[in-house]
Amino acid sequence: MRVTEMDKLRDEVEHCTKCPLYHSRKQVVFGSGNPEAPIFLIGEAPGFEEDKTGVAFVGKSGQLLEKILLACNFNREKHVFMSNIVKCRPPQNRVPATVEQAACLPYLEKQIELVHPQIIVTLGSTALKGLFGENLRITRERGNWKLWQNYLVMPTFHPSALLRNPNLKRDTWEDFKKVIVKYREIVDQNHFCKYI
Ligand code: URA
Ligand code: URA
Repeated sequence: MRVTEMDKLRDEVEHCTKCPLYHSRKQVVFGSGNPEAPIFLIGEAPGFEEDKTGVAFVGKSGQLLEKILLACNFNREKHVFMSNIVKCRPPQNRVPATVEQAACLPYLEKQIELVHPQIIVTLGSTALKGLFGENLRITRERGNWKLWQNYLVMPTFHPSALLRNPNLKRDTWEDFKKVIVKYREIVDQNHFCKYI
């Protein structure tokens, strides 16, 4: 099989010791999906299930994300690549520290460069701040298209926030509807979604 740039990056990240999180991780969670996907989803960090399996978004948040993607008629293998601000689980699922994020961000930037998506969706506050800086507020930015290095970015809530507060589901669905509309505009005008 042909070894791609993404394979090489994965190998590098899987051996990373650039921040203290490597001490406590079971597995690195590099990210998964189509390495040429039109949509790149960015979460915060692996949780318990992801650390155990090495696969992004397989726990409770991931299952809710899966439902949202299905409602959009997007699937993990074809339409999206998903990864996180940091690739190793922070103990007790705490928010990754500034030094941890700084050590890991170059990997995410490289992933984005390799996937070269048409649309990026940041999930939650940590992903938003990770790309755009600490002073941004998810409640203010969500639902509005932003540009990061010429990439179109839709910030929305993290699925774990929806699990804690189901009232946020309505806004999140509005945000994903904007993603579908944009996807039709710039990727596939025939993309089917029975809701919109
Ligand atoms: N939450 C995230 O932000 N990322 C995962 O991969 C799983 C849960
Ligand atoms: N706080 C977060 O960390 N994420 C959200 O999506 C909303 C509030």
